[in-house]
Amino acid sequence: MVITSAPGKVILFGEHAVVYGEPALAGAIERRVYVEMEEGRRDGLTISSEGVEDGDEYALRYLRKAVEVALVHLGADRDRGLEVRVASHIPMASGLGSSAAVSVATILAVSRLLGAELSGEALAGLGHQVELQVQEAASPTDTLTSALGGVLYIEPGRGYKRIAASLPLVVGCTGDPRATKEMVRGVRDLRDRYPRIVDPLIKSIGEVTREAKVCLEERRDIGELMNINHGLLEALGVGTKGLSHLVHAARAAGASGAKITGAGGGGSMIAYAPREVERVVRAIEGLGCTAFQVSIAVEGARVEKKGLL
Ligand code: PMV
Repeated sequence: MVITSAPGKVILFGEHAVVYGEPALAGAIERRVYVEMEEGRRDGLTISSEGVEDGDEYALRYLRKAVEVALVHLGADRDRGLEVRVASHIPMASGLGSSAAVSVATILAVSRLLGAELSGEALAGLGHQVELQVQEAASPTDTLTSALGGVLYIEPGRGYKRIAASLPLVVGCTGDPRATKEMVRGVRDLRDRYPRIVDPLIKSIGEVTREAKVCLEERRDIGELMNINHGLLEALGVGTKGLSHLVHAARAAGASGAKITGAGGGGSMIAYAPREVERVVRAIEGLGCTAFQVSIAVEGARVEKKGLL
């Protein structure tokens, strides 16, 4: 039997623009998906899940596809009998990278069970394939961050750079479900209708992300840049009333910046709160939403020593 885990993520800067080749900055968070896997007594997959009820079918599509991609990659019989238990400590379908974490933890589990060693990059690459097959459009951001951990500056097609940063972040979840695929399609349609307006917005998000990288490296406050990024995401049409409420409540409570994180249209926001963390959490909770402080997960996907399910 093998037990693996992989962290969720927050996109600090650059969501949506990264789909068009601009850079993104993302951080793995200490909220994980756990996968327990053993050889099955009969052919095919047997799955049981815990803590994934809300997005059950959604998450399990990634899990099934991840098993298939890993078995094919390793040259194994794709009908091999496997028993899988999965437990998630990441809210599902909320923009916190649960699907990438499910994919990456599952691929790692299959590879270890079959006695294979995959590098973090190979794991991320296979996880990306899973995301592409399940949701069509996907940048490598989520799977790379979940596989490798830490804070990453990602340039699609050109690689990534690790940024040493520990960030005082608060996550607020609206609880409104949304599908990344539809949000990505919405931005694409807007761009098709107004290319001369939307292209500069996408480029501006890229500039904000480049500037934020420098800020992080120089350990300067990134709050103001988060606010600008949020405004640009609103202009791309991925904001909602619920997200705006949380973003403004966080700023009013003392966060130096706040923005949508992930695809928008519901899901989650993040606040950068070097001071007043507790107040920011309470302000979001005061609006009836879930909020928590998160720390950056330095480790990405890993094999666990003992059962956590
Ligand atoms: O919904 P999330 O957190 O998986 O974020 C999607 C980020 C996008 O840039 C909108 C899409 C992508 O694949 O990068």
